[in-house]
Amino acid sequence: MNSNIKVNPIQNSRIDSVDFNNLPFGKVFSDHMFVCDYKDGKWQNPTIEAYGPIELNPSAKIFHYGQSIFEGMKAYKDAKGTTLLFRPLDNCKRLNKSAERMAIPQLPEGIFMDGLKKLLEIDNAWIPTKEGSSLYIRPFIFATGNGFHASPSNEYKFIIATAPSGAYFAGKVKVLIEEKYARAANGGVGFAKAGGNYAAQFYPTQLAIERGYNQVIWTDDTNHEYIEEAGAMNIFVRINDTLITSPISDRILDGITRKSILQIAKDSGLQVEERKITVTEIIEAAKNGNLKELFGAGTAAVISPISGFGFKGVDYDLPELENSYASQLKKKITDLQTNKTEDPYGWRVHL
Ligand code: PLP
Ligand code: COI
Repeated sequence: MNSNIKVNPIQNSRIDSVDFNNLPFGKVFSDHMFVCDYKDGKWQNPTIEAYGPIELNPSAKIFHYGQSIFEGMKAYKDAKGTTLLFRPLDNCKRLNKSAERMAIPQLPEGIFMDGLKKLLEIDNAWIPTKEGSSLYIRPFIFATGNGFHASPSNEYKFIIATAPSGAYFAGKVKVLIEEKYARAANGGVGFAKAGGNYAAQFYPTQLAIERGYNQVIWTDDTNHEYIEEAGAMNIFVRINDTLITSPISDRILDGITRKSILQIAKDSGLQVEERKITVTEIIEAAKNGNLKELFGAGTAAVISPISGFGFKGVDYDLPELENSYASQLKKKITDLQTNKTEDPYGWRVHL
């Protein structure tokens, strides 16, 4: 497949204008993007071209019915300059899981992997080497077919764009446990990385930000009794020495960071539980001093410790622990991702 990718390289790279020592998250884009079209029942015309605007008709179905899915992944460089990916096939599988739920055609794994590899070969100089920075990769598919009929599009575009990026959160993360709004419902699309899931979070998150929080902790849609996710992260709770995370359901994204951390934590001898966690249990643990840590986990945010949370007008602070589970697990996963340690799981892919 690789050989079939048409490459239209840019003439002048923008790379010299980028300050790699002060990278924001997802705002600076590499020179090229990979584009592949779905037309006449098949994926075709895989091309690498300049990162830039795309022309669409106002009737394109993406604008009206939101058929749009995406993935988030990262490329790293090790000390020798080798390009590394982390569990990329898991992203491809999840993209296709999202595609199925949103009535988008399946994307062959070969197109995903070959496009990604070729793009990283061409824009290799854009992969940051500074600790804590990486090349954030955004593969996405959206409906380009035209028409106001509320039915699936017959045409789509698959694009991979990349952005050399620094940390997702600038400082401490304070969260609000949600009591009114929900990001997902049983039988809905919460498990999919569908664009609309994020749009649905913006308004409640804005309300939380106005009240001094950075992020919402989503609870179940029925009684807001169980904690489920933290914005664009899966949520982990440490009560005494036990690390707990909510089980995957059709309301929760099956995070690749989440499942990697669960494995690493178990193999490090930590006590780990995948079970439903009630808000009441967290409040009680906070009150009696047993709530040691809360943290979010995701590709963009890696592991983000939560410094405190609000619930029903009361704020609870979390202790600042030395050698926290969050810091131990963050070091283990990033060392593995960047080839500083062995990879007993076969998760790292060297390009
Ligand atoms: N939950 C949501 C809603 C997300 O958007 C993400 C980010 O991708 C995650 C969890 C974490 O998933 P992953 O670790 O695969 O990035
Ligand atoms: C990721 O962690 O890669 C995500 O997709 C989160 C994103 C919404 C910033």
